[in-house]
Amino acid sequence: MKIAVMPGDGVGQEVVPAALAVLKQVGTRFSFSYSIDQYPFGGEHYLRTGQTLPDSALRELAEHDAILFGAVGVDPRGSAKIPQGILETEILLKMRFELDQYINLRPTRLLPGVPTPLKNAGPDDINMIIVRENTEGLYSGNGGFLYKDTPHEVANQIEVTTRRGVERCIRYAFDYAKTSGRRKVTLVAKTNVLRFAHNLWLRAFEQVKADYPDIQTDYHHVDACTMYMVTKPKIYDVIVTTNMFGDIITDLGAAIQGGMGMAGSANLNPTRQAASMFEPVHGSAPDIAGKNLANPIATFLSVAMMLDFLNQRKAAAAINDACREVVADPKNHTRDLGGTATTSQATEAVMAQIERL
Ligand code: NAI
Ligand code: MG
Repeated sequence: MKIAVMPGDGVGQEVVPAALAVLKQVGTRFSFSYSIDQYPFGGEHYLRTGQTLPDSALRELAEHDAILFGAVGVDPRGSAKIPQGILETEILLKMRFELDQYINLRPTRLLPGVPTPLKNAGPDDINMIIVRENTEGLYSGNGGFLYKDTPHEVANQIEVTTRRGVERCIRYAFDYAKTSGRRKVTLVAKTNVLRFAHNLWLRAFEQVKADYPDIQTDYHHVDACTMYMVTKPKIYDVIVTTNMFGDIITDLGAAIQGGMGMAGSANLNPTRQAASMFEPVHGSAPDIAGKNLANPIATFLSVAMMLDFLNQRKAAAAINDACREVVADPKNHTRDLGGTATTSQATEAVMAQIERL
């Protein structure tokens, strides 16, 4: 297995090395081998070289089996030299689009022992998988300005919605439900107002669901969804949604599962024609970077998703089980979870637990 590693900026430089230590451990334990290629891209690299993600590097990345990504983005207070959004679009979105990672898989699970801001919810209530379309929608970069910087300036940002793109995403959500023993798929969109793009989503959903008679289905408008994720999260099992709505509701999902430090994710090219990418949902967290305070669990859970995708099921399960055991004990909680453990201590606890499994 060829794995490309891109720690990026801020806490990415702490959580990714921690994850590599865990990967090395399970590699030995479950007897699989892999090679690592490190890539330097991110805000610091951009400030030094003016490069975001060169096409030559993109071509190399595509040839790997997986990419482990930390986060990009330097401290917004000190980054006047970096044009707004350039790192996110030219590094992260470029990889997602160019490598056709059309599924962004974001599990939202509250693990036992992890504090949630929802007063009446426990691990049985918060256990959903959000399938976000990852290559189209409002994030496709299609649009432009007319009469820029004049009083009658026009800005268009086009929600690109293709039948192929929508259908392959919806089908993935149903297949995921079927193979993982989940029972229901809910489409989240805004069909009452976005009567073209989201009507296409709805029609594709209605058509695809006919192929999965054993899976229940539901539809929620996105505004109602944000309310239900707080008031009755238990109603959600698998959610399938657009690129932008998925971005927004997965931050809400991260909040109810214990915060950004608990949320892992996968950007999948299910055809395996180019590399898939695995990353914590969080950013570079400049407010805590470099202090050994970051919660590494989100990155460990992302590595488990990577190993699952690479058919190293036992190793993936070991990491998931160890994370679950470790966060059940408040003494292992990092500061974001209300504890005092450092990144290194949480990492050592997970590695010790893997050793015991
Ligand atoms: P952020 O996710 O970096 O931080 C939000 C809050 O969550 C902060 O209070 C932070 O301390 C906390 N947090 C995040 N990860 C944590 C962890 N592992 N352990 C404990 N606490 C954690 O989002 P923010 O502040 O909006 O963005 C910071 C920078 O990251 C910006 O430059 C932004 O553009 C970039 N960004 C990059 C992303 C990516 O590369 N995937 C995603 C989101 C933001
Ligand atoms: Mg986001």
